[in-house]
Amino acid sequence: MLKKGRGRVIPMDELAKRLEVTFIDADVKEKDRTSIRKFISTLKKKDIETYEHSVRIALIGARMARVLGIDPKPMVFAGTLHDIGKTMIPDSVLKKKVAYGPEDRKVMSKHVEYSHSILKEIHPFSAEVALYHHFFQKNPYPTTFPRSLLGKSPKQQARFYALLLSFADHYDAATTRTNSKRGQRLSPAGARKNLVKEFPQFRKMIMSLYDRDAFNEAMPFHPMKSILLNPRVVMRIRNKRGKLAVYAKPKFGLARRKLIQIK
Ligand SMILES: [Fe+2]
Ligand SMILES: [Fe+2]
Repeated sequence: MLKKGRGRVIPMDELAKRLEVTFIDADVKEKDRTSIRKFISTLKKKDIETYEHSVRIALIGARMARVLGIDPKPMVFAGTLHDIGKTMIPDSVLKKKVAYGPEDRKVMSKHVEYSHSILKEIHPFSAEVALYHHFFQKNPYPTTFPRSLLGKSPKQQARFYALLLSFADHYDAATTRTNSKRGQRLSPAGARKNLVKEFPQFRKMIMSLYDRDAFNEAMPFHPMKSILLNPRVVMRIRNKRGKLAVYAKPKFGLARRKLIQIK
């Protein structure tokens, strides 16, 4: 049986800092920031990996929204809060170190309803997004839904954000965790392929988000796309033979500079 290993791609402190920057960028009000911080500190106490995952989803989600030209704020809320229901999942399942069996999956799938019920009074839009964040995948859940508190149009918007969130969710899981189905953690390109397999009807949107660098927001270990889109970190240095070498360094400074071209 394959062990469930998870890698941390960005240190926790760095993630927390990036979340604060994203709060500012997405114009999240101080009152809401406090509320989100409170929720995710509960998550952090329960399970650090779920906390880190949630922050990464907020970062990737906000970036995806910007790429698509929609408001990133709901992704910051729903990204950080979508798995808050996992605080109600017993540790024996949530922190299980071996692959899940059908019974574990059943227990785990309850987290979307728990997230919804925890959030519905305080953040009703995020509650709706959380409820649907596993609904668009190949094995969707839940199968029955509580009545929505939202009107027709906000409800549709929430479903769209839930779809985006599920892209981010799958991508993050594929690049940071091993599992029994697909094996080792995947490279960004592998995760993109995997994502298209899971959501074939949204291939075009996924490809466009990927090509426009949306998924790399929380991925310092594969910096090339970010680098190429961010000329400030590209350095042109003449080497000893007089050739022009173009080096690039990832945005967030966690990897060494890398030679990308010699002219
Ligand atoms: Fe989830
Ligand atoms: Fe998640």
